[in-house]
Amino acid sequence: MESQFEVLFTPAEFAALAGRDLSGAHCVVFDVLRATSTMMTALANGAARIFPVREISQALRLRAEHPAALLAGERDGVRILSARSGGVDFDLGNSPREFTPERVAGRDIIMTTTNGTRALQACLGATRILPGAWLNLGALARRLRSEKAARLLIICAGTYDEAAYEDTLAAGALCDLVWAQFEMEPDRISDSAHIARRIYLEAGSDVEGAMQRHSRNARRLLSIDNLRADVPFCLRRDVLEATAELRDGSVALGP
Ligand code: MLT
Repeated sequence: MESQFEVLFTPAEFAALAGRDLSGAHCVVFDVLRATSTMMTALANGAARIFPVREISQALRLRAEHPAALLAGERDGVRILSARSGGVDFDLGNSPREFTPERVAGRDIIMTTTNGTRALQACLGATRILPGAWLNLGALARRLRSEKAARLLIICAGTYDEAAYEDTLAAGALCDLVWAQFEMEPDRISDSAHIARRIYLEAGSDVEGAMQRHSRNARRLLSIDNLRADVPFCLRRDVLEATAELRDGSVALGP
C-alpha cells in the first residue's frame, strides 16, 4: 500500500514526481531559505500573482507576454543580472526583505530560483500545490485540516542537488501539526514523515541554534552582509495568516 503522508527530502525525489500520479494529493513545498518564504512575503505585501518558472529563458519569454510584470529571482543566491540573463537586469533578487509593499503591491512577479520554483513546478498534477514557510505554518496546517487532506506530500526544495536542513525542519514541524490527521492509520504514514517529525521534535524551540549547527545554507546567508537578515526574517513563525496556491501557472493568495 502506498503511504499517504510522505516527505521528499531531495531534488532527486521531487524530480521523480513526474512519473507519479499526484491526483488527490496536497503538495506543500518548503524552500525556507528562501524562495517560498519570499513568495509568501510578496503576496502578503500585496503582489497580485507570482509566476514560478524553472529557467531564466522562460522568465524572459513570459515577461515578453506580461510586460508590466516584475522579474525576480536568483542564481547562486544573488539577483540575476544582465551578464547571466543575456541582457536584462532582473528587478528583484530572492531576498524576502526586497519584496516590500512599495515594490510589489498590485504587481505580477515572474520568478525563477535555483530550487524553489523547480520544486513547485515538479508538483504539477497535484490537487493542491501550496508554498510553505515558517511564516504561515499554522495557517497551512489549518488549511490542510479544513480541506481534510487525505494524501499529503511535503516537498523539501533543498539546495542545489542536496537535502537542506531548514526545509526538513519545517517539513517536520508541519508533520507534527497535522499528525493527528493520519495517526489513526499508522500504515499510511511513511518513514520519511516520521524522520522529519523526529528531527523537528529533537530541535526543540531553538530553531535558530539548530540552523547555525546544521544548515549550510543558513550559515552561507549569515556570512553575507546584505543577506544575513534574511535568515531570522524567514524563521519567524506564524506571522502570516494566509496560505497561497499554485494554480494555472501562478501562485496567488487563497482560498
Ligand atoms: C532556491 O530556490 O534555490 C533558493 O531559494 C535559493 C536562495 O534563496 O538563494
